[in-house]
Amino acid sequence: MSLQQGGSERPLLSREQATVRTFHRRGRQVQTNSRLDWTDPFAILRTKWSDVPAGNTRLNTKQLLEISDQDLLHLWAEAKHQATTGENFSVRGWYHTLYTPILRDKTVLDVGSGFGIDGITFAQSGAKITFLDIVDSNLAVCARICELLGVRNVDFCYLKDLSSLSDLGSSYDVMWCQGSLINLPFQLAWSEAQQLLKHLKPRGRWIELAYPRIRWERDGELPFDRWGERTDGGAPWVEWYDLEKLLARLHPSRFDVVLYLEFHNGDFNWFDLVRRDN
Ligand SMILES: C[S@@+](CC[C@H](N)C(=O)[O-])C[C@H]1O[C@@H](n2cnc3c(N)ncnc32)[C@H](O)[C@@H]1O
Repeated sequence: MSLQQGGSERPLLSREQATVRTFHRRGRQVQTNSRLDWTDPFAILRTKWSDVPAGNTRLNTKQLLEISDQDLLHLWAEAKHQATTGENFSVRGWYHTLYTPILRDKTVLDVGSGFGIDGITFAQSGAKITFLDIVDSNLAVCARICELLGVRNVDFCYLKDLSSLSDLGSSYDVMWCQGSLINLPFQLAWSEAQQLLKHLKPRGRWIELAYPRIRWERDGELPFDRWGERTDGGAPWVEWYDLEKLLARLHPSRFDVVLYLEFHNGDFNWFDLVRRDN
């Protein structure tokens, strides 16, 4: 919606448009100030992201490709158990419990699938999952685990650059983005989100895990190109999100909020959004 200024034909910016512009400006500003040259974002991100979350630790998927089938399956099962039970039920277990039945029979794009703790679990319960990642060894490990577990309703897409997305169908029910699109400057994340949105159905869901601003404040408001040293074992970029900022990243597509919450003492926040028809 754009507002008309009284007596003038000049349209004012809607709040959403203004927000997206502000974030774009900030994105450019931060990019300029970053120690890194973001001309090739995925090349920067690949320097870190073969190290993926695996329960209480991180594992390197290049190394995982070298181990036996039996050891790989054992590590995956152990990582999933650690990540979803006991103390960590309140990190990942709760949403596996909530979304496993919701995602059954749905087509889901797992954006930044990592070690597949979410994607493989949901595929085992009948979701049709496409694993998408910028690191090919992450995908190779997930493919091998699916094969070993006999999980067939899966597909894999290597995100070499944004043109790789053109091979995907346009009818995903769900974009599942767990801690992936917080890893690059806002403006670049906006560009990637715009490409992803071409593949999401009307009334499709955008479900994302991010880090809230309160965590960033608690950690001393580090520049985003330093914050990943604290949060993710040296990620080149980690940026906080709130609802306004996430909606701005999806703009001009419009979404309604199914669920928003901060959880685990403000370490994480959860966005479950449904796309408007128009
Ligand atoms: C913090 S890990 C999360 C992995 C997995 N989603 C999970 O919940 O354990 C971030 C993942 O996102 C991937 N990633 C990083 N930047 C990305 C981007 N711009 N687009 C897609 N995937 C990205 C990384 O390769 C890695 O697999």
